[in-house]
Amino acid sequence: MKLINQGAEAKIYLDKNIIIKERIPKTYRIKELDEKIRKQRTRREISMLEKASKIINVPKILMGSSEKEFKIFMEFIDGKKLSESLDLFDDKKRIEICNNIGKEVALMHSVNIIHGDLTTSNMILKDDKVFLIDFGLSFIDPKVEHKAVDLHLIRQALDSKHYKNYESSFKSVLDGYKKYSNESKEVLDRLNKVDIRGRYKQKNKN
Ligand SMILES: Nc1ncnc2c1ncn2[C@@H]1O[C@H](COP(=O)(O)OP(=O)(O)O)[C@@H](O)[C@H]1O
Ligand SMILES: [Mg+2]
Repeated sequence: MKLINQGAEAKIYLDKNIIIKERIPKTYRIKELDEKIRKQRTRREISMLEKASKIINVPKILMGSSEKEFKIFMEFIDGKKLSESLDLFDDKKRIEICNNIGKEVALMHSVNIIHGDLTTSNMILKDDKVFLIDFGLSFIDPKVEHKAVDLHLIRQALDSKHYKNYESSFKSVLDGYKKYSNESKEVLDRLNKVDIRGRYKQKNKN
């Protein structure tokens, strides 16, 4: 078993072709509360991954997962993380990948799953398919506002981490989204408002 990632919330181990995501204690929280939060997030991630797997590409949940042990066993997606690879593809391929990001997010939104942490670190490309991972902050809500915020997070991630091709990449995400969403007009109208609010906040910082 090999530790492959240590984030603020969780340790990720790879054992053969299985990923084990273990939520680690936060010592600044009192024990009871900390365990409650870790259990809740583990349970949430398991149930959202199960729901999402019926519609989009996500790692399959495997036996052994246990909210009591704060552990999720899941399929290892042996591909390329988009945070590290998106800018390395040629334009045609990059546009195709961004279209696929939009498609996956639109399909996910069609069953009212909001991801809550859509960055390119939570997307893996395998066999030309985009897999979404890291559903610890996800929830179910039909409101257009939440869907717009999900898209806004992608926009921010592309703008800050992939700025070289930001314009065409985000346009392609939206093209893919429009094709697979039946409420894209409402969501994109709301996205404009979310963006304006974001800029206003930025300008009035300090
Ligand atoms: N199922 C998986 N397949 C392949 N890599 C994974 C998988 N789950 C997690 N990872 C790797 O571990 C990293 C952190 O996992 P993630 O679920 O995003 O936790 P965190 O909450 O720490 O961001 C990911 O960015 C990815 O590199
Ligand atoms: Mg993550």
